Amino acid sequence: MDSAVASTSPEQLRAALATHLSETGWIRTPAARAAFRTVPRHLFVPATVALAAAYADDVVITERDPGGRATSSVSAPWLQAHMLEQAALRPGARVLEIGSGGYNAALIAEVVGPDGTVVTVDIDADVVDRARTGLDRAGYRQVTVVHGDGEYGYQPRAPYDAIIVTVEAADLPPAWLAQLAPAGVLIVPLRIRNMTRCLTLRRHEDHLRATTALQCGFVPMRGDGCTPTRRLALRGDDVVLFLDDTTTEVNPDALASALRSVRLEAWSPATITMQEGSAFESLHLWLASQSRPFGVLAVDRERTVGLLDPQDRFVCPTLLIADSFAYLAVRRLDDTTWQFGAHGFGPAAHTLTADMLDLITVWDREHRHGPGPKITVHPTGTHSPVPDRPHLLVTRRHATVCIAWPDAGEPR
Ligand SMILES: C[S@@+](CC[C@H](N)C(=O)[O-])C[C@H]1O[C@@H](n2cnc3c(N)ncnc32)[C@H](O)[C@@H]1O
Repeated sequence: MDSAVASTSPEQLRAALATHLSETGWIRTPAARAAFRTVPRHLFVPATVALAAAYADDVVITERDPGGRATSSVSAPWLQAHMLEQAALRPGARVLEIGSGGYNAALIAEVVGPDGTVVTVDIDADVVDRARTGLDRAGYRQVTVVHGDGEYGYQPRAPYDAIIVTVEAADLPPAWLAQLAPAGVLIVPLRIRNMTRCLTLRRHEDHLRATTALQCGFVPMRGDGCTPTRRLALRGDDVVLFLDDTTTEVNPDALASALRSVRLEAWSPATITMQEGSAFESLHLWLASQSRPFGVLAVDRERTVGLLDPQDRFVCPTLLIADSFAYLAVRRLDDTTWQFGAHGFGPAAHTLTADMLDLITVWDREHRHGPGPKITVHPTGTHSPVPDRPHLLVTRRHATVCIAWPDAGEPR
């Protein structure tokens, strides 16, 4: 992106962004490339954002709640490009976007052309106003901007060839499936045990099959589809354990006092190099896929120096029981190589760290270089058989998510 920073005009910055997204593999088709070269992103970010920042391959936060948490943003271009490519839109396609901002809707409008239909729905009136203003200024008056709860889609323009959800969902509301055309595609950042994966879902018999699952982050859904995670503050906001279910029984006081016990470290023979960073995406989902109590840890690294050193400071996979926990750790072996391991706390630290190492061993041997799990989503009330040997079933109100890792050597 050096060329983008050195450039000055919006046109040059746009061209540099489109080139960057093509070179990094996020843009793959001429239609998506043309859309990124055309839509003026700077008209959809607050006026205080510098032009170079408006065209950086990064998210721009546009709204925050009183606690400072982001509630709206213009998403990162690489992620928008991924979703656009996965939607495989043709001219004339009908598209519903859940979660607005204007920019992504304009990209979609470019791809579907004058015969297409683009509807974008947001729950926040300020976002709706900003999206409408940006779309009008940029020349996309044909995009319909709706103020409403995306949980219910937008029936008046259904059916849709694609529904692109740009907010983190924990469930698949019935309206999305009812409004999706039979051969339509649903692209949704779905939270599965606090791991958010952007799924590309298509119908198969009476359920949906994911053809891609990409690690990503979005602001969580508000409104009727809001499904909060449990937040256990183990040492104020410095150490927080998140649980994405209502059934795991934990004793927050016991877990907090476990933190005051001596840290047990255990190390695996498995290692990783800096070039393989994306392997963590697979390992995290593997650890989350086990049918056992699981959470993710978020820590303030500076305020927990010497106490905790999790592999990931925002979403670190953590095994737990009522009074003990163990998180994924790595330690440096040399300039390029890191070793996997676990740090455990509490009376069952030994067992939990040993379990973590066993899971890492299986992942390293059978799944690390494999095709990844089959992910299917089964609407509540359907009777389709879930795949053999599911590792995990996440049951929400409207749907059950099934994750099945293949046996070693088995095709996906
Ligand atoms: C990441 S932003 C959308 C980004 C946007 N699509 C863009 O052009 O980059 C997520 C949006 O989802 C909205 N949102 C949250 N819950 C919602 C709901 N239930 N229905 C519709 N929109 C919702 C938020 O207000 C926020 O504006």
